[in-house]
Amino acid sequence: MTRRRKIYEGKAKVLFKGPEPGTLVQYFKDDATAFNNEKKGVITGKGVLNNRISEYLMLRLAEAGIPTHFVRRLNMREQLVKEVEIVPVEVVVRNIAAGSICKRFNIEEGTPLPRSIVEYYYKNDELGDPLISEEHITAFGWAGPPEIDDMLSLSLRINDFLSGLFLGIGLRLIDFKLEYGRLYDENDQMRIVLADEITPDGCRLWDIETNEKMDKDRFRRDMGGVAEAYQEVARRLGITPESGQQDIKGPKTIQ
Ligand code: TMP
Ligand code: ASP
Repeated sequence: MTRRRKIYEGKAKVLFKGPEPGTLVQYFKDDATAFNNEKKGVITGKGVLNNRISEYLMLRLAEAGIPTHFVRRLNMREQLVKEVEIVPVEVVVRNIAAGSICKRFNIEEGTPLPRSIVEYYYKNDELGDPLISEEHITAFGWAGPPEIDDMLSLSLRINDFLSGLFLGIGLRLIDFKLEYGRLYDENDQMRIVLADEITPDGCRLWDIETNEKMDKDRFRRDMGGVAEAYQEVARRLGITPESGQQDIKGPKTIQ
């Protein structure tokens, strides 16, 4: 991990220069943060599980015609991705009220929304990822109108696809966050592709029968059983890491 050139280190992942031009290696850490870095912890084995979960979901989305940055998983904690220029806008899709929307509009958690709601947040940790509108995105030049159109339509297609996929394994997709990147081909043509990750770090997933939370809210709210919840999501997806149990030293959350 130290032999490669580090390009960027985020809260839960590290990006390294990839083996070929135009590629990066995305390394998944066990670190967890919440409330814009105010709360920090380690969820042992999370990186291994998230690497698998994101691989699986990105591959399924690609089969459904969604362009993504994912190339292939390299090992327990790393995946090869295409190098993209990240659009500094986090796209959140909500189906059921939970988290910040409950506070903002005084809605009870668990209330179904009249329809899926898409929100944009400016990806800026110093500012705490503020909620923004399309006007801010275009006026400040974070993305152009056609790029916003692409991100919106892709996000709604991803929501439909993932909602069905999770329903099939007894999980309700409450909300989730996506990031997109600009991928340039050899003729310098650009297209918007899904980037970053899709994991229980950036989704809310509730068990259909019990409403039990199976995502990072367990960490945010000190509910315990965080790694077990991620393991259960992986198990239901049929992708529990088969070999490297040595890398998952058993569930343990340290704060
Ligand atoms: P929120 O309710 O805190 O606004 O979060 C909505 C969804 O987006 C939730 O599934 C968590 C995810 N999310 C992130 O992954 N990263 C972030 O920085 C934020 C604000 C939300
Ligand atoms: N990922 C963000 C953070 O680490 C927000 C969150 O997930 O609660 O602060």
